Amino acid sequence: MGVVALVPAAGRGERLGYGMPKALVPVNGVPLLVRAVRGLLDAGCVQHVVIAAPPSDVNTVSTVTAPLAQAGGAVHVLAGGAERSDSVRLALEHAVREIPDTTVVLVHDAARAFTPPTVVKAVVDAVEAGHPAVIPVLPVADTVKLVDGSGRVVATPERSSLRVVQTPQGFDARVLLRAHESGLHATDDAGLVERLGVPVVTVAGHPDAMKITTRFDLAVAEALLAGERP
Ligand code: CTP
Ligand code: MG
Repeated sequence: MGVVALVPAAGRGERLGYGMPKALVPVNGVPLLVRAVRGLLDAGCVQHVVIAAPPSDVNTVSTVTAPLAQAGGAVHVLAGGAERSDSVRLALEHAVREIPDTTVVLVHDAARAFTPPTVVKAVVDAVEAGHPAVIPVLPVADTVKLVDGSGRVVATPERSSLRVVQTPQGFDARVLLRAHESGLHATDDAGLVERLGVPVVTVAGHPDAMKITTRFDLAVAEALLAGERP
């Protein structure tokens, strides 16, 4: 089966406030996007990576990611869209149009740059085993409240039934295409697929697959890499 990873990397990184797109922010000298793509290719089961880059940085992204292409793997770069969902849709349309035999699609945030390859492999294995939609999740550490518009607590969902969701999310390519063509809206790709009534299953995520959003997250990532050779 052809496994294609779509990497939305076109965000501006406003909350990080680094003065450059988050995907290009270096940690120990290596941009977040480069780390994310390496993690995908190191899983050994991804043949193509399609990156949605900030429209003004397509050339820079092409230059920094070109050395990552390896035997049996290819890296494609295109301009992303205004919202994350637009970037995913543009990358998906490119994959379906340009890459023959795209059967399994992963969607993986460039901002989850430290995702272990074992998580990538677990997601791909579950899709290849016949699940049309697969997401990596972690248990929730905090109690979560449901509140109304005024901030008043409406309910306290049972914590043991709650999970936080990471990426890569994996799909049967036809299912994800149908979800993106449906005109429905959701905050993640699995949410779109759920709305089609397609079952979504979970596999174990990993704390290192945290999304780098703030300066605090970047400091955590730097601590994680304390022993890494530059
Ligand atoms: N993303 C994208 N296209 C957009 C917006 C976001 O491809 N128009 C990507 C980001 O590059 C990131 C992922 O979606 O890899 C998750 O988004 P987020 O963490 O919100 O990143 P940014 O949008 O860059 O950050 P911020 O919201 O702080 O500006
Ligand atoms: Mg954003």
